[in-house]
Amino acid sequence: MECATCHPNSDPGKDMGIPPLSECMTCHETVAQDDPAIRKLALSVRKKHPAQWARVYNIPAFVRFSHRRHLAAGTRCEECHGPVATRDALALEYPMTQKGCLACHVPRHVGTNQCFFCHD
Ligand code: HEC
Ligand code: HEC
Ligand code: HEC
Ligand code: HEC
Ligand code: HEC
Repeated sequence: MECATCHPNSDPGKDMGIPPLSECMTCHETVAQDDPAIRKLALSVRKKHPAQWARVYNIPAFVRFSHRRHLAAGTRCEECHGPVATRDALALEYPMTQKGCLACHVPRHVGTNQCFFCHD
């Protein structure tokens, strides 16, 4: 599956989003229905319980960040989130801190490193 199947970048928008469970069921009504994890999934959809996803990547609201701009500039998911396609579960593989952002911006001569590049 493509990342964008579950994480479409809404247009206009800067976020990738997390799919609603009902979207998972478009396949899992018939795929691996007997798997314990899929049974649990089907039950939450029937009971309309939203999934309790644990947020992994999260930057404070006072930092400007747009997926759209980064993807348009050619940066790939893996550069910021690691080799997701080979992982069973995600952890914070790259620090999404000021230092982490600048570790990519500085060598690529992105922006001016002036504070207002990322902060109002
Ligand atoms: C386009 C179809 C499709 C969609 C949409 C989809 N899946 Fe799957 N999923 C699969 C297929 C195919 C497998 C592999 C099943 C197998 O190995 O028998 C799978 C496997 C899984 C498994 C592992 C089952 C196991 O133990 O092997 C889980 C858990 C799972 N999916 C959860 C989800 C969740 C959560 C979503 C929604 C965020 C989702 N899936 C959306 C097709 C899909
Ligand atoms: C079958 C649907 C599906 C596909 C395909 C998929 N993801 Fe996800 N992704 C999810 C769901 C559901 C979560 C939330 C899971 C959780 O929190 O345990 C998630 C979580 C994430 C997160 C963590 C978000 C956060 O901060 O909590 C990242 C990053 C991510 N996915 C990137 C990717 C990339 C990159 C790809 C392609 C290589 C991809 N995903 C493919 C369904 C999918
Ligand atoms: C330049 C670095 C970078 C790239 C490239 C990138 N991400 Fe992210 N991603 C982030 C940051 C930073 C956050 C946290 C955003 C926030 O807290 O507002 C994030 C958050 C997410 C989330 C959580 C939900 C959301 O929208 O905030 C998902 C899902 C995700 N990314 C998927 C992807 C996928 C899929 C790709 C490739 C198509 C991708 N990302 C490319 C840095 C990146
Ligand atoms: C893997 C490399 C990489 C990482 C990591 C990265 N960026 Fe960027 N960033 C870029 C590139 C390349 C551009 C140039 C985009 C363009 O020319 O439009 C950019 C542009 C920007 C811009 C200006 C465009 C806009 O959206 O207004 C901001 C703001 C920004 N990055 C913030 C961040 C923040 C905050 C982080 C850390 C959470 C981060 N970036 C991490 C590569 C990266
Ligand atoms: C490339 C983007 C980027 C640039 C440029 C940048 N910052 Fe940040 N800044 C961040 C991110 C991401 C965070 C949140 C994560 C962290 O604390 O590292 C942050 C956090 C902060 C915080 C809060 C720290 C805390 O402990 O809560 C302050 C204060 C700050 N920045 C000031 C500045 C100043 C002053 C400059 C200019 C010298 C600057 N920033 C330039 C991305 C940036």
